[in-house]
Amino acid sequence: MTRDTHPSGAPWRNFYGRFKGKGLRPSQEAYLDEDLAKLSPGKVGWEENPERSPLDLQALFGDKPVWLEIGFGGGEHLVHQAAANPEVGIIGAEPYINGVAMLLGKIRTAGVSNLAVHPGDARDLFDVLPDGSLSRAFLLYPDPWPKKRHHRRRFVTPEHLEPLSRKLKPGAIFRVATDIPDYVRQTLQQVPQHGFEWLAEGPEDWRQPWGDWISTRYEQKAFREGRTPHYLTFRKR
Ligand SMILES: C[S@@+](CC[C@H](N)C(=O)[O-])C[C@H]1O[C@@H](n2cnc3c(N)ncnc32)[C@H](O)[C@@H]1O
Repeated sequence: MTRDTHPSGAPWRNFYGRFKGKGLRPSQEAYLDEDLAKLSPGKVGWEENPERSPLDLQALFGDKPVWLEIGFGGGEHLVHQAAANPEVGIIGAEPYINGVAMLLGKIRTAGVSNLAVHPGDARDLFDVLPDGSLSRAFLLYPDPWPKKRHHRRRFVTPEHLEPLSRKLKPGAIFRVATDIPDYVRQTLQQVPQHGFEWLAEGPEDWRQPWGDWISTRYEQKAFREGRTPHYLTFRKR
């Protein structure tokens, strides 16, 4: 990997997170070698699809509605939703390869088959997903970037929200969870500017998790460190 590219071949896109952490266990290396290619949503990488041709979601999931989870971390929520919603096809995007390896282990254990995995930046997927193709998107505990000068790195910025909005169908649901009050502020300011309405009617709507929620690794850390989750639900107009 050169400084200018991700292993997928994508151009460098000001991604400030981590691609790889501590060493992978041999079992995790095996999941990556044996399972990842089979779970690909199609030609997402720049080397294999330099024209950025649209993905064939019909070939991937048939007529199932398609959901997207951005930054799935260890994959607990992604696998939980896939198991609970077999009538849906779900794509997960996560550049951190250790998280991808954790997800693959969970997929083997759960035996779910309605999942596709992009081991990279969600923006690569936005390039190749057909417009209006997604019925739901999840952004759960996005990287907080607490320093003010780093707020423009946050996911809830036009660079990400504009293409995400285009990929969602009218009426599609976009869920955001965060434990950072200033991230709530920026989300409530930015997301409605990209064609979404916030569905909250009262405080319980953002204080209580969604009925089908499973707590993620990052949320558990937030609880341990005394931070309060917020659950924000938007609908694409
Ligand atoms: C704070 S972690 C939360 C992980 C998980 N959602 C959870 O709740 O445990 C944020 C994750 O978003 C991923 N991420 C950051 N930018 C991303 C992008 N552009 N596309 C996809 N994932 C991204 C990071 O690699 C990281 O794993």
